[in-house]
Amino acid sequence: MENSTLTKSSHLLLIVILLLFLFPDPSTPSPPPSPVRCTNGSTNNCTVTNAYGMFPDRSTCRALKVVYPTSEQELLNSVANATASKTKMKVVTRFSHSIPKLSCPGGSNGLVISTLNLDHVLNIDSTTNQITVESGVTVKALIEAAAKANLVIPYVPYWFGLTIGGLLSTGAHGSSLNGKGSAVHEYVTEMRLVTPAPADQSYARVRVLKIGDPDLDATKVSLGVLGVISQVTLQLQPMFKRSLTFVTRNDLDLADQAVSFGYQHEFADLAWYPGQRKVLYRKDDRVPVNVSGNGAYDFIGFRPTATLAIQTNRFTEKTLETEKDADGKCAYSQLITSTLALLAYGLTNNGLIFTGYPVIGYQNKMEAAGGCAFGLEDGLLTACPWDPRIKESTLIHQTTVSIPLDRVKEFILDLQKLRDLRPAALCGLELYDGVWMRYIKSSSAYLGKEADVLDFDFTYYRSRDPMTPRLYEDFLEEIEQIALFKYGGLPHWGKNRNLAFDGVIKKYKNSQAFLEVKNRYDPDGLFSSEWSDQILGINGSVIVNKAGCALEGLCICSEDLHCAPDKGYYCRPGKIYEDARVCTYEDSSTANLKFMS
Ligand SMILES: Cc1cc2nc3c(=O)[nH]c(=O)nc-3n(C[C@H](O)[C@H](O)[C@H](O)COP(=O)(O)OP(=O)(O)OC[C@H]3O[C@@H](n4cnc5c(N)ncnc54)[C@H](O)[C@@H]3O)c2cc1C
Ligand SMILES: *[C@@H]1O[C@H](CO)[C@@H](O)[C@H](O)[C@H]1NC(C)=O
Ligand SMILES: *[C@@H]1O[C@H](CO)[C@@H](O)[C@H](O)[C@H]1NC(C)=O
Ligand SMILES: *[C@@H]1O[C@H](CO)[C@@H](O)[C@H](O)[C@H]1NC(C)=O
Ligand SMILES: *[C@@H]1O[C@H](CO)[C@@H](O)[C@H](O)[C@H]1NC(C)=O
Ligand SMILES: *[C@@H]1O[C@H](CO)[C@@H](O)[C@H](O)[C@H]1NC(C)=O
Repeated sequence: MENSTLTKSSHLLLIVILLLFLFPDPSTPSPPPSPVRCTNGSTNNCTVTNAYGMFPDRSTCRALKVVYPTSEQELLNSVANATASKTKMKVVTRFSHSIPKLSCPGGSNGLVISTLNLDHVLNIDSTTNQITVESGVTVKALIEAAAKANLVIPYVPYWFGLTIGGLLSTGAHGSSLNGKGSAVHEYVTEMRLVTPAPADQSYARVRVLKIGDPDLDATKVSLGVLGVISQVTLQLQPMFKRSLTFVTRNDLDLADQAVSFGYQHEFADLAWYPGQRKVLYRKDDRVPVNVSGNGAYDFIGFRPTATLAIQTNRFTEKTLETEKDADGKCAYSQLITSTLALLAYGLTNNGLIFTGYPVIGYQNKMEAAGGCAFGLEDGLLTACPWDPRIKESTLIHQTTVSIPLDRVKEFILDLQKLRDLRPAALCGLELYDGVWMRYIKSSSAYLGKEADVLDFDFTYYRSRDPMTPRLYEDFLEEIEQIALFKYGGLPHWGKNRNLAFDGVIKKYKNSQAFLEVKNRYDPDGLFSSEWSDQILGINGSVIVNKAGCALEGLCICSEDLHCAPDKGYYCRPGKIYEDARVCTYEDSSTANLKFMS
């Protein structure tokens, strides 16, 4: 480690910068930019992108027009208009947080329907504990409205910048094996969906889907291809509190603990730091409201962050990448994870300071965070770390795959075997909160989980140059292929790189039932796009074979050209999973030796 780029003096500088990063400016962050931009600020000739400003294939997406309906009636008119003229359509949300190319309408002359102004809470029924909201309502607004009525949603994604329509469409979740589990769509009791209709029905209709209607199994996780979700009714619960304690342990018995831990705590999750051989166990359980405590969980990574700190952090990792300094990444990850632990990850016992575990607080203050998405313009002094307007903002790949619980042990043992070959190869994951593991239960949703699973989130560096390989990318590619192919894992619909979706639809036993509903609701495929046709196995493939394609996850390499042979990265078999094909660095001396032997 002495030879590492992170010498003692640069350590000191980094600590200063980290403090900036970790104690962000609480004032007013710049809210994220709109994912839709049109010529001259009009509503015509638009480009559509996601919150990162970049889809996996880096292409831009064009649409002829954007509309901002403010009511179900306006929504109905928009869909009718487009249906009458056989125009392709797609819903885009306030921020558009999905990584894959889900929000692009087909072709380049489509219509985007924004749910930005469909953001009203319509009703809270305190006899049934149900809430009805328009589909553009954010998780933040949903939680706040429910709490006012002394109600809570039991499980949600940890980031409250998502909309209810968007998160349902991709099957988003929190972490729990309790009851119906952590996927939000399990708590839908009714939804209203606007779909195309024949001319004699004025080209559009509202479909009302209630519990018991078999079509609900298609509509509650629909990838946006069935029509526009207008309104959603969710089953809530009476307010409760939670008691949370983070415990760090070594990872020797992780493979044995991972499954049983999920049954021991209602809101259990795990963060694994494979390079450090440590695991952060989240012991988190429901407690009655009369237990004292007024804690909050304002996760540090989702707070408004100083632009300077975002850039310094990025610059540090970029330098370590350029210098192929894996040990430096480990040192940097030590620094970050120990500082985060010291700050209790953003937990406070009273909304102000952290005094010790357990942190006990109301569910609505503990379940999600996302301050960086909800500020006023501050000229980009602070923002979300991935804000695309910032030069050198955080840019990542995400491989998120769920593994059936009965195979989790074997999977983790495989990852540990791979890790043991070169522990520093995986330190990069620790710069993004480690390998995050969350529990989800099997679902009746046709595109929901097929079994009770543990969802694994791997987040890692992505270069702004598509032809620049990543340090030890062979290890990450092998993990990706082990998860997807050896264990048949299901990729999160709203995350991942293209290759994760190759043949994905064959993994769903009810895919035909889903497609049957799709053909019935939208026979002309107006809500379909090239991307949705590819992932649903209708037309074309997500795989793009070209020079460098494996670096970006657009393909699995089958020849050296798919990697970066000019930079020493060649297509090679996996190290523990023979069937994997990964871009492996061989410095010229070894390469020459091989050539000569
Ligand atoms: C910082 C961050 C944290 C995250 N944390 C989690 C997490 O904890 N758990 C988790 O599971 N996921 C998480 N995600 C992923 C996220 O849940 C999904 O990407 C989610 O789908 C994004 O929701 P959105 O509102 O931004 O929708 P978008 O990404 O804009 O849309 C997703 C899809 O839904 C369609 N759609 C949206 N609204 C409607 C509608 N009203 N009618 C019909 N179709 C619609 C869109 O057309 C698109 O196809 C996270 C993402 C980020 C960026
Ligand atoms: C956009 O602005 C330019 C110059 O201000 C103008 O010439 C052009 O017609 C405008 N285009 C549209 C679509 O409004
Ligand atoms: C449409 O937008 C693109 C780029 O956003 C621009 O180059 C082009 O001139 C625009 N076309 C019209 C007709 O405004
Ligand atoms: C429907 O189309 C007509 C004619 O093209 C247009 O005037 C009207 O504004 C459109 N309505 C909506 C809601 O898009
Ligand atoms: C909380 O209330 C329950 C009954 O509602 C009571 O049994 C319990 O003792 C109370 N606990 C505390 C800590 O006040
Ligand atoms: C299949 O996809 C290709 C490429 O996007 C497109 O040209 C073709 O029209 C599509 N075919 C069908 C039947 O949708």
